[in-house]
Amino acid sequence: MDTPFLRMRRLRQTPALRSLVRETALAPSQLIYPLFLCPGEGVRREISSMPGVFNLSLDEAEKEAEEAARLGLGGLLLFGLPESKDEQGSGAWAEDGIVQQGLTRLKRNRALRSLVLIADVCLCEYTSHGHCGVLHAIDGEQHVHNDLSLIPLARTAVSLARAGADIVAPSDMMDGRVAAIRRALDASGRENTPILSYAAKFASAFYGPFREAADSAPQFGDRRAYQMDGANLLEAMREIEGDLAEGADMILMKPAMPYADVIRAARDRFDVPIGAYQVSGEYAMLKAAFERGWLEPERAMLESLVGLRRAGAGFIVTYFAKDAAKALA
Ligand code: PBG
Repeated sequence: MDTPFLRMRRLRQTPALRSLVRETALAPSQLIYPLFLCPGEGVRREISSMPGVFNLSLDEAEKEAEEAARLGLGGLLLFGLPESKDEQGSGAWAEDGIVQQGLTRLKRNRALRSLVLIADVCLCEYTSHGHCGVLHAIDGEQHVHNDLSLIPLARTAVSLARAGADIVAPSDMMDGRVAAIRRALDASGRENTPILSYAAKFASAFYGPFREAADSAPQFGDRRAYQMDGANLLEAMREIEGDLAEGADMILMKPAMPYADVIRAARDRFDVPIGAYQVSGEYAMLKAAFERGWLEPERAMLESLVGLRRAGAGFIVTYFAKDAAKALA
């Protein structure tokens, strides 16, 4: 052979060699597990499009949280299904709201100290119309009003922080909400509560199953006037820059798999902690393939997560968190 070539296979010969040169690690402590809290006792209602994911009453959620802690997960991301919804979404900031009650309960449990409790801040689960902000009519047509939405969002963040959230995570995509939330937290003595901003959140078909899980589908129209257009990477960088300038401590990218390049670009550009949210549709499509025997569950799951770590995500919000931790043990 005249042409020299590299013998790349030398370092792939044994599991020990492969392990020694592996560039990306995945650990349970980097995984965040979402929980959907609902009223009642003993409720464990499976989401039809997300096998293995449930609406949980607080007693059941506490059991899940204990398992998450035993598995060494990094934390939980809490969503709520309120008893009733209204036009303003008042259940989001109610002192006895479902997530507020959940936080109080989980915070009391010493076995959960290792978990970071992250509270999603949004109105869509709480509004009768299912939009992430407050509506107002222009020429007889309903729109989500940006600035009017900042008030209830900030109020919600303060209420969740008071109830025990270690981090608040606004996912509504209103402009200026990070600044409004930061100001409100500081004014109420919560200057140490970090903000994890869903800075680059794209309007996505992959949120479909979540809207069943959180009962948060918009009752008219869609979210394209506030969530980002999936074609835009530069705009995502501006969103992140803006949120950091407003005081975000960390950022979350979502969805994950179809946007791995956006995660990479953000990682190269910003020196803050970055998470990726492997959303409901990403979970659902993998689960569907597993059920049909079309993909090897454990390998495909871990590959999807390592890929996001390699793209630059420091931590990952995933419905596979418990399964992945078991596979990694
Ligand atoms: C709330 C919110 C959504 C998700 C997280 N927070 C839904 C949406 O924007 O419609 C989606 C998460 C998932 O699909 O797993 N605004």
